[in-house]
Amino acid sequence: MNTSFEKTAVDKAQDYYNSAPADEFYFKIWGGDHIHVGIYNHPQEAIKEASPRIVHMMASKLNLNADTKVLDLGSGYGGAARYLAKKYGCQVTCLNLSETQNERNESLTKKAGLDGLVTVVEGNFEDIPFPDNSFDVVWSQDAIVHSSNRELVVEEVVRVLKENGEFIFTDLMQTFDCPKTILKPVLDRIHLDSLGSFGFYVEQARKLGVRNATVLDLSEHLTTHYQRVMEETQKRYDEMVEICGKEYIDTMIQGLKHWVEAGKNDHLSWGIVHLNKSVVV
Ligand SMILES: C[S@@+](CC[C@H](N)C(=O)[O-])C[C@H]1O[C@@H](n2cnc3c(N)ncnc32)[C@H](O)[C@@H]1O
Repeated sequence: MNTSFEKTAVDKAQDYYNSAPADEFYFKIWGGDHIHVGIYNHPQEAIKEASPRIVHMMASKLNLNADTKVLDLGSGYGGAARYLAKKYGCQVTCLNLSETQNERNESLTKKAGLDGLVTVVEGNFEDIPFPDNSFDVVWSQDAIVHSSNRELVVEEVVRVLKENGEFIFTDLMQTFDCPKTILKPVLDRIHLDSLGSFGFYVEQARKLGVRNATVLDLSEHLTTHYQRVMEETQKRYDEMVEICGKEYIDTMIQGLKHWVEAGKNDHLSWGIVHLNKSVVV
């Protein structure tokens, strides 16, 4: 996507999610539909059980029906899109820059018989390839973290939302006072330059004239989730080394330890941000 020598955050995210080890790792460890933090009823719960709960929780905050046009930014394997299409009959457009994930998404969606409702589009959420006022709902889970220009992403979202449209998303974020020494190894795991925060998103919405941003802090689940991902990877170590290579899995386990530690020390945040364009002044 970028022709200059220096890779942008967008290029890094695309290379990362297109790479075979990352694709296999996320597909197998997360369970094939979702790649986001789950909501855990207990700390030993399976990742596949916990993952859909946050999708259900987000959907319950919206008035969805067969007329609702939803845009899912950074849609991964399309688990949320299929849920929204199947349960509510929504028309969902998945925007994602990873061709590898998009292929899996298209094939899973076809298999589920939902290809009449779910459309997969390759593209970058910093430059959303749709006209102004196109969607009733913009949805995103743990994806905006990959942008180095999150202000622009929020601006783009507000642009493509219809009047009264809603933006609902989760993101991996930092707390206000997270020390730089803690943040560096956390960022390195998924090749990031920075993290957003609840305060950052509320402020960004305010700058765009949106005064009604609400947040639901669910940060405790982030620590449980990365602990579960680490345990699962360790339990299936030989199988995952065979598939992804030893270097990838050892580096991943090390990176996950930093996320668990930072989460336990209250340096990371995660939860739902929800805003409505109707209050733009
Ligand atoms: C952690 S995964 C989450 C996937 C999906 N939302 C889910 O919850 O299962 C992050 C996703 O963001 C996508 N992504 C990252 N940067 C992007 C960008 N600039 N434009 C579009 N998609 C992007 C990745 O390809 C990946 O699908």
